[in-house]
Amino acid sequence: MNIKPLLTADGSHTLYLEELDETYHSRHGALQESLHVFIQNGLEFVVRSGLQNIFLLEVGFGTGLNAWLTFQAALAQGITVHYTCVEPFPLPEAIWSNLNYAPAEQQNDFALLHRSEWNRTVSLNQHFELTKLQTTIQEVRIPESHFHLVYFDAFAPSKQPELWTPDVLAKTTASLQHQGVWVTYSAKGEVRRSLMQCGMTVERLPGPPGKKHMLRAVKH
Ligand SMILES: C[S@@+](CC[C@H](N)C(=O)[O-])C[C@H]1O[C@@H](n2cnc3c(N)ncnc32)[C@H](O)[C@@H]1O
Repeated sequence: MNIKPLLTADGSHTLYLEELDETYHSRHGALQESLHVFIQNGLEFVVRSGLQNIFLLEVGFGTGLNAWLTFQAALAQGITVHYTCVEPFPLPEAIWSNLNYAPAEQQNDFALLHRSEWNRTVSLNQHFELTKLQTTIQEVRIPESHFHLVYFDAFAPSKQPELWTPDVLAKTTASLQHQGVWVTYSAKGEVRRSLMQCGMTVERLPGPPGKKHMLRAVKH
């Protein structure tokens, strides 16, 4: 894997993956994108519905940015998050330890997320339990009707179309409980239609800076 760090427009890092000619986040702002799509329109939407004990699935752990922001939100809001993520290609320490997501005094907490053992459930504190599964979303066995929230953060449909197939989308929506919420940064029409065929009510919401739209789908 040939991976290089890049600074995005809001000053936060992302990674550039040469093989796919693709970045891990929007070049318009990695932090802004994660906050907008996954935290504000995903986690906070679920918390506003009254949930305090949240089972969450992330497709693509990558830099750990979404997990880090969720970890911080869980502490700040006094909620508990059981965070399960799927990632076939964990990043080496030389890469993740140089990302500028955590201030120096919180770097140890950020490192906890990355150092946490793969393929087992680890309680990091009373608000955050982490299960990192080193496998693909196609291969992983996940329970049905289990999660309250899915962060779907695969590489773009144009770069990794095999992650956006009706089968994979159906598997991740089937893993949601009734009223469960599924969010992604992409607003592709084909993705929206596949989600609707899975019985999801899909909203096209304003995207983060630099992106017109994103998708949020709710299971009914
Ligand atoms: C767009 S990046 C985002 C990662 C992460 N959420 C972040 O904020 O850094 C997509 C991630 O999906 C991972 N990935 C690639 N193929 C996958 C697969 N088949 N199943 C699950 N994840 C995959 C990549 O290795 C990468 O870490």
